[in-house]
Formats: sequence, structure tokens, C-alpha cells
Amino acid sequence: MTNVTKELADRLIREHSLSLDEYEALLTDRDAETAEYLAAEAVKQRKAVYGTKVFVRGLIEISNRCKNDCLYCGIRLSNGKCNRYRLTEEQILACADEGYRLGLHTVVMQGGEDPYYTDEVLVRIIKGIKAQHPDSAVTLSLGERSRESYKALREAGADRYLLRHETADAEHYRKLHPAEMSFENRMRCLRDLKELGYQTGCGFMVGSPYQTMRALAEDLKFIETFRPEMCGIGPFIPHHETPFAKEPAGSVELTCYLLSIIRLIHPRVLLPATTALGTMHPKGRELGILAGANVLMPNLSPVNVRKQYELYDNKICMGEESAQCMQCLSERIRAIGYEITAERGDYAGE
Ligand code: 5AD
Ligand code: FES
Repeated sequence: MTNVTKELADRLIREHSLSLDEYEALLTDRDAETAEYLAAEAVKQRKAVYGTKVFVRGLIEISNRCKNDCLYCGIRLSNGKCNRYRLTEEQILACADEGYRLGLHTVVMQGGEDPYYTDEVLVRIIKGIKAQHPDSAVTLSLGERSRESYKALREAGADRYLLRHETADAEHYRKLHPAEMSFENRMRCLRDLKELGYQTGCGFMVGSPYQTMRALAEDLKFIETFRPEMCGIGPFIPHHETPFAKEPAGSVELTCYLLSIIRLIHPRVLLPATTALGTMHPKGRELGILAGANVLMPNLSPVNVRKQYELYDNKICMGEESAQCMQCLSERIRAIGYEITAERGDYAGE
């Protein structure tokens, strides 16, 4: 760690903010010593807000049908080899029930942009989950929709919404998405979600094709100014049936380094150690928690559809029942000195 790097790290620790150039320097000049230094401080600041509790979210992958064609994603429209499915309302409610029994008091409904899920259908499902489990939070992760749609879903009871911005660099965004998708609309969605009172999550992949340290610095600046309640980051992992099949995966090391920085920018943010991180390293999720993350998202989808919801290759937890994953996670988390809690785990406001 050079004197300059130490100075940047110390200022981030104190002031929770750096300039764009400084973020870039902190990324470019990183070494193991700086990573350890930032991680120790990230853990300290996370513990001051959330203690050693790790929040859990039950992920229900409701549909792998998608009208979009993002170049990195295995369920993109152009992937003719993808075996498509969508869950029925009954199946979704059964997964939510199962999750509740396992102590998962947040349900995340995630899916491709599947036009079947109109506002009417989703409102019914959201109200169904809330009627069964009034003390559970409902999180949606269903891509770009209109402001009116977000409003209707919020009024039906949805509490949170995850929509990764994917990259804060508009030019980089265009290299990851087809021409029909726009950076501007993505940002419009995030603004609308926040204004409508959702706890809002943005995020990005680490090591996605064409990503530069400058682009990552832009992501950090965006997080600093947007102040999301949640932030999902994980390594990019190539999927064999996409244009990025031959691209290298993102690194665990850089992902953990970024998790520490994000925790220090925004000590209260809800920050998952993602499944992608767990896919890249057998202890990836533990490493994420030890770098400053405080959320895990075990899979609640029916085991028979899990293999079909394949955003990237070699995804973990494909054969395990939800109960087995919960057991596995609590043991792993206990082993590193943390504990899983059944609390809803809302954003701890200032
Ligand atoms: N590798 C890692 N993450 C991916 N995602 C999509 N495809 C991949 C991939 N190949 C992420 C995107 C998306 C989230 C649901 O999954 O960031 O927003
Ligand atoms: Fe699913 Fe370990 S978390 S098997």
C-alpha cells in the first residue's frame, strides 16, 4: 500500500466519498494490503449498523422468458437452446410459503421481462403473498417497466425493487445491450422506483466485457450519489450460448474489493454476497461477507426449474432443496462468526 493509496483509503473511511479520479486510482493501484485494510474497516462500519446479523432473501425465479437480448445473459431472447418456463401463481405462493417456514421473511420474485406478468397478474400475486404472510417483505426484480406499473405494484404491497444499472458508463452500457435498450430508460426506472418509495437496489457485474477501471469508478460515483438502499454486485460469468461465451469471467478478488468500497461509501446499504460470487469460488459468499456484505439470497425456486434459469454457466445450488440450502448457509455463516437472522431486514434508515 503506497502512501497515496493509504491516504485515499483513509479519506474514504472518514468521508465516504472520493472523486471519480480517486476511485479510479484506488481501483488501479490496489494490492492485497489495501484490500485487507479496506475490508477490516468495511466490516467495522457494517457491524456498527447491522451487527453480525446476515439477512436472507428467498429468491423465486418466476420465469426465464424474456423479451430482451442482453449480450451477457443466458436467458436472452436469441438463445434458442434455452428451455423456457414460467411459474403459475399457485407455484409462486407455494414457494413463498416454503420460504416462510424456513425463516425467510423476504421473498424476491425475479424473472426475465416476460409480458405474461401484467400488472393485473402481479398485483394478485403480491396481494396473495402479503395476505398469507403480512410480516414478510416482497421484493421484485422484474426489469424495466413503466412508472405507472411500478406505482400499481407498489400500491399492491411491493416493498423493494432490484434493478441493476449494469454500468454507469453509457457507452459501456451500449456494448452490453442491443440498440433497443437504453441507458436513459434504465436510469429513469431507477429514479421512478425511488420516488415511488421502494427500497431500491442497483448494481453491476464485475469484469463484464469492455469494462474499464474508469467505468467501475463511474459505478462507485453513481452509488455515492444515487444512494440505493440495496446494491447487488457479482462477477460476470460467461454463458456458453451468448455472444460473450469466450470472454473471461470477473474476479473474486476485485468483487470483494468493490464490496468493501461500497460498504464504506454507504455503511447502511444492504449488500448481498451473490450466487455468482459463490459460483466463482467455493467460499465466495463467505469471502463476500468478510469483505463487507450482509445479505444472502438462497434459491426458493422449485428444483425442477432451477437449471433452466441459467443466466451464466455452472450456477451453484442446482440440486439442493431450499431447506438444504438454508441449512448449508447457516452452517457456513456460523463458521465465520456471523449468524443468519429471520428478521425482514429492512434498510436501516439514518
Ligand atoms: N454473469 C453474471 N451475472 C449475470 N447477470 C446476467 N447475466 C450474467 C452473467 N452472465 C446478472 C445481471 C442481471 C442480474 C439479474 O444477473 O447483472 O441484472
Ligand atoms: Fe445451496 Fe450450500 S447454499 S447448497
